[in-house]
Amino acid sequence: MSSLSHTVLTATPSIEPRLVGRRITYLELTDSTNNRALECLEDGAVFVAETQYAGRGRLGRKWYSAPGLGLWFSISLAGPLPGVSLAAALAVREAVADQTTLDIKWPNDLYHGKRKLCGILVEQRGQRMALGIGLNVNHQLADFPPALRHRTGSLAIAANRQWDRMVLLESLLLCLDDAVMRLYRGEIDRIRAEWLNACDIIGRKIRRGSICGVVADLDNDGALLVRTKDGIRRITCGDVAVVGYYR
Ligand code: BTN
Repeated sequence: MSSLSHTVLTATPSIEPRLVGRRITYLELTDSTNNRALECLEDGAVFVAETQYAGRGRLGRKWYSAPGLGLWFSISLAGPLPGVSLAAALAVREAVADQTTLDIKWPNDLYHGKRKLCGILVEQRGQRMALGIGLNVNHQLADFPPALRHRTGSLAIAANRQWDRMVLLESLLLCLDDAVMRLYRGEIDRIRAEWLNACDIIGRKIRRGSICGVVADLDNDGALLVRTKDGIRRITCGDVAVVGYYR
């Protein structure tokens, strides 16, 4: 484990957000912050956990949430809100942009080099939506389970320095607030264009199972529209994973 002690997140951020982060609940331990956000009826309420014992990722995967090293949080919103996961990835990227450059990879992960350091999980239950973000912050490689060490990273590894998680949370919430406001103002097309610009997937050849084709577009739910010899096929992240993409 990392030799650096961790700070428990308790301070009240000094930001004055319009929506996201109007109320912030800090939890020492919870199953999944997405569950807390889905139960909540207050738009913009944020639930942050020191650690989660049943953190989840896409496709029913477990999300490893080490105590004190990352930011594991969810925002409660009225849903659906098309484009929210794309907007969230851009917001995370922007929040750290003055310190390190992150790449967005389809379906909607943030990477530094070959290492994934942030995942986003949007879940909907009835009229409520949880926008869940898991960001590895102060991990060193030894802090990850051995099976993850070859492909998982953190901001500390990317930028070669430790991060103040409270300061980072403040900038994240401000950028996420901006992102949600842009969606409310109807800027989905611009957000999708910015996401595509950051992701560099249009025009790439995708091979997955029997499907082979060229990525023509991305829809507002983040699914790829792939031109194949049989016409346009829609590929969602719920399908089997892409086995490789190349130009
Ligand atoms: C993925 O890449 O598969 C998405 C990972 C999302 C993890 C975050 S951590 C906060 C929130 N609570 C969860 O249980 N999951 C999300």
